[in-house]
Amino acid sequence: MPPLTPTTTTTTTIVGGANYPAELVAAVVRATEAAASACLPLVGSGDKNAVDELAVSAMREALALAPFDGTVVIGEGEKDEAPMLANGERLGTGDGPGVDIAVDPLDGTRLAAEDLPGAIAVIALAPRGSMFDPRDVFYMQKLIAGAAGIGVLDLRLPAAQNASLLADALEKPIDDLVVAVLDKPRHASMVTELRAAGARVRLVGEGDVSIAIAAATPGSGIDAVMGVGGTPEGVIAACAVRSLGGFMQGRMAPQSDAQRSAALAAGHDLGRVFSVEELVTSGRVLLVSTPVT
Ligand code: FBP
Repeated sequence: MPPLTPTTTTTTTIVGGANYPAELVAAVVRATEAAASACLPLVGSGDKNAVDELAVSAMREALALAPFDGTVVIGEGEKDEAPMLANGERLGTGDGPGVDIAVDPLDGTRLAAEDLPGAIAVIALAPRGSMFDPRDVFYMQKLIAGAAGIGVLDLRLPAAQNASLLADALEKPIDDLVVAVLDKPRHASMVTELRAAGARVRLVGEGDVSIAIAAATPGSGIDAVMGVGGTPEGVIAACAVRSLGGFMQGRMAPQSDAQRSAALAAGHDLGRVFSVEELVTSGRVLLVSTPVT
């Protein structure tokens, strides 16, 4: 402890953490592992909220013992009215560094409820005040890749153009480029556009934190993530991408008139494209994820 490189396996993955005491890293690992194992009795039960609730309670209990003075900046569950660790909630023993915490006790609740692979329990932390707070905006458009995307990709460009630019930067033919996209109706035209350009599209039912980590990890088999997912997952992904030295941009993407009005009322600039350094302003990040299914 603390490991410094990503280890994407069937066990816990730790990204970053070099600047934190080993006991703090260990406490965060215990929290994702507690959340993941707490879910197991209800994996396959079909009850999304019940399985999520098990993860939330176990994670909250474990994080209460962590040696930091933490504030939840990114809770999860608000958009689905699911159980959540609330924004602003204080966690930890109060001793140790002051940190912002982003949690998703169960990313891929439907996957866990239906016993499908890909659900994870995940926590990211960074120094206090360094995480972007996307309050009142539930969805974010994301463009994520490895370091090859830096200075090359731009969220404002069409998806096919970004795919072609990334293939060139990676010096491979576009038909070898794998772009992961959440399998949602809102992405139908983007998927058609990417396939027409020759890129391979990997459709993923749920869970865009895992694919974000993969996209920022060279050799993972996923070259990029494109499309709209949750904002909590976006900030969590930014912590991983920043630590892995990858590329990410995000832009708020409300999905209804009501969400748009709420976002504007909260003062968000919906046209602004955030760099990974704006989504998490410090490089001193730690991300831990444990597979559930
Ligand atoms: P939860 O399991 O935490 O609800 O999130 C699953 C997820 O697929 C996220 O990974 C993704 O960012 C978000 O939902 C997309 O939201 P939606 O399913 O509403 O399109």
